[in-house]
Amino acid sequence: MTTVKDVLEQGMQRLITAGTAEPETRSARLDAQLLLSHITGNERALLYAYPERTVSDEQAATFFALIERRRQGEPLAYLVGQKEFYGLDLLVDQRVLIPRPETELLVEAALRFVRARLDAGEQPLVADIGTGSGAIPIALAVTEPRLPFLYACDISAAALAVAQKNCQRHHVEQRIRLLEGDLLAALPEPVDLLTANLPYVGTEEMSLLAPDVRDYEPHLALFSGPKGLGLLYRFLVEARQSGKLKRRGCILIEIGYQQRVALMQLIDELWPHAVITAQQDYAGWDRLLHIYL
Ligand SMILES: C[S@@+](CC[C@H](N)C(=O)[O-])C[C@H]1O[C@@H](n2cnc3c(N)ncnc32)[C@H](O)[C@@H]1O
Repeated sequence: MTTVKDVLEQGMQRLITAGTAEPETRSARLDAQLLLSHITGNERALLYAYPERTVSDEQAATFFALIERRRQGEPLAYLVGQKEFYGLDLLVDQRVLIPRPETELLVEAALRFVRARLDAGEQPLVADIGTGSGAIPIALAVTEPRLPFLYACDISAAALAVAQKNCQRHHVEQRIRLLEGDLLAALPEPVDLLTANLPYVGTEEMSLLAPDVRDYEPHLALFSGPKGLGLLYRFLVEARQSGKLKRRGCILIEIGYQQRVALMQLIDELWPHAVITAQQDYAGWDRLLHIYL
């Protein structure tokens, strides 16, 4: 038996000396607290409020095993098995990319589009391509209950298994149809809105990626050709040629910060009359393209 205070202090020290969690004490303390909170089932505030509470030997052993994995660089979200996205707790493991806060911008843009249509008395159809954990369509379905139905496609059956659990967890499994296939191949009908956060990191940049991303997140979810543009190019061409985007439709894609010019050039060629806007993320980098046909 030991106390909350003691195991937290020891866990934190192990993370600081490892230097894999950011070396700042604050980050190490937060990681240690989140891991202990996950293991004991007590909220972080309780750990603060009752530092003298006891932790069983079994809990302490589990805690230090997770601290060791964190020390090796494994992302916290995989260790605790979940990540908050758009206010929702999503299950995540190594089968899916950990949803990023930047992607919430895409959800907000998608909500603006579907709400304008719903307010006009229409029933917009949405398909999310490269859905991973299901973050985007689940956030849309939960936030906008007027949306009757969405499609969510991914080439990875393993990722779709996680998405299915998340749909059940948030009670939207009747409203989201999961489809396995390459890009738009499995989509059975034209839609009004295509959302996509597809892989856009170039294999050329692999060595620049943080090790906790490169060594733990699925490469199928990260990389797309040498410059990261291969899949986005193919997706846009297919969206144009497949007839799976309705007239007056919209595409929202998340992009890498150096990809705007190249992608806008292709979009101009594919849809000369489309209105295209780029949106920056919280750090000021180009992150999202809106394409209104
Ligand atoms: C960057 S992750 C994004 C996951 C999720 N949309 C999010 O924002 O957190 C990209 C996803 O695209 C999927 N993917 C990769 N290649 C694909 C393809 N050719 N067709 C469909 N999905 C693909 C991956 O399996 C992965 O789940």
